[in-house]
Amino acid sequence: MATFISKSPAETEAVGQQFAEDIGPGSTLALKGELGSGKTMFVKGLVAGLGTRCDVTSPTFTILHEYRGGRLPIYHFDFFRLENRESVVRLGLDDYFFGDGVSVIEWADRFREFIPQRARWILFEIKSENQRAITFE
Ligand SMILES: Nc1ncnc2c1ncn2[C@@H]1O[C@H](COP(=O)(O)OP(=O)(O)OP(=O)(O)O)[C@@H](O)[C@H]1O
Ligand SMILES: [Mg+2]
Repeated sequence: MATFISKSPAETEAVGQQFAEDIGPGSTLALKGELGSGKTMFVKGLVAGLGTRCDVTSPTFTILHEYRGGRLPIYHFDFFRLENRESVVRLGLDDYFFGDGVSVIEWADRFREFIPQRARWILFEIKSENQRAITFE
């Protein structure tokens, strides 16, 4: 377990970018932490680090964004607005989680029973206006 203290959005993005370096096909990253804690900022860095030039926003209403054109495809989920288990089942998550891309899920703890055992969990915490603690569990 390692905790990184980020002092700006750009630093959180840099943490994501750094993380992208040692990520391989089939990786699953489960993100948790309150609203505005920096999950999407981290994903922005991750996507840039994998060599995809795309705008990254929380897929809150669409549930899934896909970013292609980099070293690996990225499947960016947001479980925040999913209401029940049936709506999670309908996503057909295994096609993503057991494919060759990288899956990253915001609010993964809302339906943790759907997250594979091998997923890397990352916790985001708000420490002050511009400080975030990022813990790799
Ligand atoms: N050190 C920091 N790291 C990341 N974001 C920061 C930091 N300091 C301030 N912020 C601000 O906090 C917000 C983080 O937003 P972000 O969309 O990444 O959060 P989120 O965890 O994805 O939220 P949500 O659960 O709503 O999707 C941004 O407005 C950003 O500018
Ligand atoms: Mg977000």
